[in-house]
Amino acid sequence: METYEKLLLQNKAWATEKQKLEPNFFQQLSQEQTPDFLWIGCSDSRVPAEIIVNASPGEIFIHRNIANQLIPTDFNSLSVVQYAVEVLRIKNIIVCGHYGCGGIKAALGKQSANLVITNKWLMHIKDVYRLYKDEIDSLPTEEERVDRLVEINVKEQVKALSHTSIIQKSWHLHQQPVLHGWVYGLRDGLLKPLVTLYPDTQIDAIYQYEQLV
Ligand code: CO
Repeated sequence: METYEKLLLQNKAWATEKQKLEPNFFQQLSQEQTPDFLWIGCSDSRVPAEIIVNASPGEIFIHRNIANQLIPTDFNSLSVVQYAVEVLRIKNIIVCGHYGCGGIKAALGKQSANLVITNKWLMHIKDVYRLYKDEIDSLPTEEERVDRLVEINVKEQVKALSHTSIIQKSWHLHQQPVLHGWVYGLRDGLLKPLVTLYPDTQIDAIYQYEQLV
């Protein structure tokens, strides 16, 4: 059997089992979604959002990309944030990085001659590294340097979220969502909270919007 065929078979088994345990599950979920959380995570296959927090379909709105970034010119992640905040009115946004992140590790090395597009995506992490170069370079091993940049990157992405008009407008009008920065440990399966920004957070003046209507 091909590997993709296994996925289709597993899906059939899952849907059948779910239907048996909760006969109204799909019928109810098909009507609407009311998730409380937006998750912005890494694409890494070892950090599947719903599984690591034991969540069910309908609980988490999800966006994943390499190294869980929120880049101000990326319409993909921004449109997810806008829909989550302005339509779904989610109450919490979680930016979740993970130790040992391949994207962060790659960003700390030279640019790959072959991965031209991926290089561009990682360029933003190189910029974050440049801000914290002394602290990161002072760490003795590559693993420690990667893991420190993983943590710093999460905090920077949470900050980047707070710099968007979407978040500032929602904080102003609805006093939500709360922004969380977490990091996941591949070795122990545990999440560690790093930072929380509440709707009354003071944002640096140069990132503030003049008028929020
Ligand atoms: Co990663």
